[in-house]
Amino acid sequence: MAKRKLKNILITGGCGFIGSNFIHYLFNCPQFTGRVINVDKITYAGNPENLSDITTKYYGRRYFFVKGDICDLELVRDIFHDYCIDTVVHFAAESHVDRSIIGPADFVKTNVNGTFVLLEAAREAWLEKGRPEGCLFYHISTDEVYGSLEKTGFFTEETPYRPNSPYSASKAASDHFVRAYFKTYCLPVIISNCTNNYGPYQFPEKLIPLTILNASEGKPIPIYGKGENIRDWIYVEDHCEAIWLLLNRGKIGEQYNIGGGNQQKNIAVVKMICHLLDEKLGSSVSRDSLIIFVEDRPGHDFRYAMDISKIARELNWQPKTDFKTGLLKTIEWYLTNQDWVQRVKSGAYKNWIKSFYKTVKHAF
Ligand code: NAD
Ligand code: TYD
Repeated sequence: MAKRKLKNILITGGCGFIGSNFIHYLFNCPQFTGRVINVDKITYAGNPENLSDITTKYYGRRYFFVKGDICDLELVRDIFHDYCIDTVVHFAAESHVDRSIIGPADFVKTNVNGTFVLLEAAREAWLEKGRPEGCLFYHISTDEVYGSLEKTGFFTEETPYRPNSPYSASKAASDHFVRAYFKTYCLPVIISNCTNNYGPYQFPEKLIPLTILNASEGKPIPIYGKGENIRDWIYVEDHCEAIWLLLNRGKIGEQYNIGGGNQQKNIAVVKMICHLLDEKLGSSVSRDSLIIFVEDRPGHDFRYAMDISKIARELNWQPKTDFKTGLLKTIEWYLTNQDWVQRVKSGAYKNWIKSFYKTVKHAF
């Protein structure tokens, strides 16, 4: 296997939840000596403040930021050229199922068309001008492309795609494009499909941060349907470690499932958070009394669970963080980062970037 370059890594969506955690992971990793070029449109979910420490420490030397849309082919072409991109780690996406039900168009634009644009730019840069060794297009995807499981069984890499939401359909389409570029053009690609992530910097629209914030503020905690649906939760740092291993040693053209080995009913997750907060902050009445059962999500997938034997076998990877430890760390993070929470809620986080980058010409 040609040694991966990993010198100039284009990270898309690096200001989002997993992307910003991954950039932190990279800069904490002694083996990583390259540069990161983060392109992000800064949608509602993109928060450049997530990377304020990295920006202060590395901006203009090993960290670069381009505010832009991955659907803009000219821009993406320029980035490939200007920064000699040899690796892409593609996180950028519209990522929330509920929003995809209300407005699917942006999901098709960013998740399908945006991925197509990135593939085209990579094809032009890497294949049309020779075939440089060690390049890699790494596409981040989700278990939701496989559809929904009944009470038993696991998704394997061979499970047929049966996406049920506009979000998962758009991710499935993007996975197919990535695969097709490998088969048709021999573009060096890897795809990984991961289960539900939780941890620091997650936008508080998803179940775990929403529950932590509502429970700590005494607000109602909405549970869709009866709360019987099951997700397989992984602590985000464990996902980042798996991505790093795959970037270095994953096989070109292959797809890998990543999961937490941690299936939980939604109601159990919410109750656990409430009880951990009760223990931490004290309470005369448990915070689980804040739970309200609301109308179910249309097309709500019943259960996700991953068979991770391929990545365990090939890369000796296993998730390290048990659920209680991960939840305690996440709760601690949201409680101690109240400024972040307040700025996200008020929308003020959008201003941070302007004040920081006003002296940095090429950021805009
Ligand atoms: P997120 O919503 O927190 O972040 C998405 C980021 O992409 C934001 O910074 C946003 O500004 C940026 N973005 C959106 N549209 C863009 C565009 N057109 N051009 C440039 N940037 C754009 O998402 P996340 O939870 O960090 O998910 C990251 C990736 O991981 C996604 O591809 C998602 O499908 C996948 N994934 C997420 C989970 C999960 O549990 N969150 C699980 C498995 C896979
Ligand atoms: P979510 O965090 O939106 O992730 P996904 O839809 O990608 O799995 O939701 C996780 C589970 O929690 C899902 O079954 C829907 C449910 N849910 C609620 O019950 N209440 C909520 O307020 C939210 C946001 C989600």
